[in-house]
Amino acid sequence: MTATAPSRAVAAPEDVQLKVGGAFSLGKLSEGRILALAAAAAPSDTEDPTDFAVAEALDVRRPDLVVSPADPADVDPATPERRYSVSMVRDFPLKDDATTDIVIMRGALDAVLNKVKISRKNRSLVRRNADWAAKRGWRALAVATALVGEGDTVGEFRLQGFVHVGIEGVSTGLESTGPANWVEVPVWSLSLRFQHWANVATIFTLSCSGYFIMHPFFGPEAHAGEDAGFLMGWVRFIHFAAAAFWVVLGITRVVSAFVARDPHLRWTEWWPLKRKEDVRNLGRVVQHYALIKEEAPVYLAHNPLQQLTYAALYCACGLQMITGFALFGLYHQGNWIWALAATPCNWFGIPTVRMFHTGMMFALWMFVVMHVYLAVRADSLDRHGGISSMINGNVWLRRGAKPVDAPEVG
Ligand code: HEM
Repeated sequence: MTATAPSRAVAAPEDVQLKVGGAFSLGKLSEGRILALAAAAAPSDTEDPTDFAVAEALDVRRPDLVVSPADPADVDPATPERRYSVSMVRDFPLKDDATTDIVIMRGALDAVLNKVKISRKNRSLVRRNADWAAKRGWRALAVATALVGEGDTVGEFRLQGFVHVGIEGVSTGLESTGPANWVEVPVWSLSLRFQHWANVATIFTLSCSGYFIMHPFFGPEAHAGEDAGFLMGWVRFIHFAAAAFWVVLGITRVVSAFVARDPHLRWTEWWPLKRKEDVRNLGRVVQHYALIKEEAPVYLAHNPLQQLTYAALYCACGLQMITGFALFGLYHQGNWIWALAATPCNWFGIPTVRMFHTGMMFALWMFVVMHVYLAVRADSLDRHGGISSMINGNVWLRRGAKPVDAPEVG
């Protein structure tokens, strides 16, 4: 290969500053290794601003991945007719423990796509991602590789992915997903996480036992004069024991809402609409959830919609306790406390209270389904580690993010 001018696949006028966003990986290579491939393809005597931007991004994000630029004699640069360069790179670290001789094809996505072996499905996946990034002002610097075999024979080129290259001040909203651009922020205290999982376990136990009380779908059938065993007695015992535990759990949560020093535990977290801006943010979040708006205001803890939802959830749990005690009170009418607890049965009738108590169980489960769906969706879209945060207590935010409810991150 001969060396002339460096690759100009994504060129920019002299006075504009290029920057590198994230990278898109089509296969198993990490974002860092895609960047490393793009950096290794540049000739060592380059003057191309794209090469400098890529090398700098690699330096900052993956200082552990040391790659030397290609020998200029091994680089066949891009031309206006053929908008990709081809570089022979020796000992490239494709894996942590092994290096390989490869040829890297690097340049405009369309030009590279025409030269590589790629399935129709992957081709459309790559195009969709590149189009999405292009709308935000990013160009795709595609990277394909071919293995070098015996006697320097070059195998088939496969697309590995692309790097987002943009112009400082123009390209937005697609910064790197690499670790250097994210900050891990502690949010959920140990007590809150314990509360969360204890609630899951208790509501599950109460639902299973409650469902059996409503509809004993297994066990011996009771015929007149026959002993049907004590199965229902045990199930009711489990229901009442779990209910007692749930009430204690609820009381500790309410107490902590008033005494805790951690602001995320305080009752103010349940009422988001304190200022006009909060109401506007609520509207923005609703539109984001309804897939009308792409961006939503960033919150470190709960956004206004979540705060209102959890306030409603706590009320629903309170009602479930009240109706549960109303039913339990029926068994102990001699005691004035239980007689008082049974008041809702006197007001609305026992069937209505039973119906309400059962309906609330199904409502809680509808909440659980939505809750899990939204948690997975938000974690996939925002990559903020929301699901793991209920285990380790920490969420991830982009460096420089300005959450509404916390100081600037990083
Ligand atoms: C403090 C909380 C609770 C108390 C004190 C409580 C108490 C009771 C009582 C006394 C009964 C009637 C049992 C019988 O007559 O044998 C009952 C039934 C039932 N409970 Fe609960 N419960 C509570 C929470 C829950 C929760 C959280 C769920 C579900 C999420 C639930 C689901 C049910 C169901 C489905 C029934 C059957 C309703 C019927 O057909 O009568 N309970 N509960």
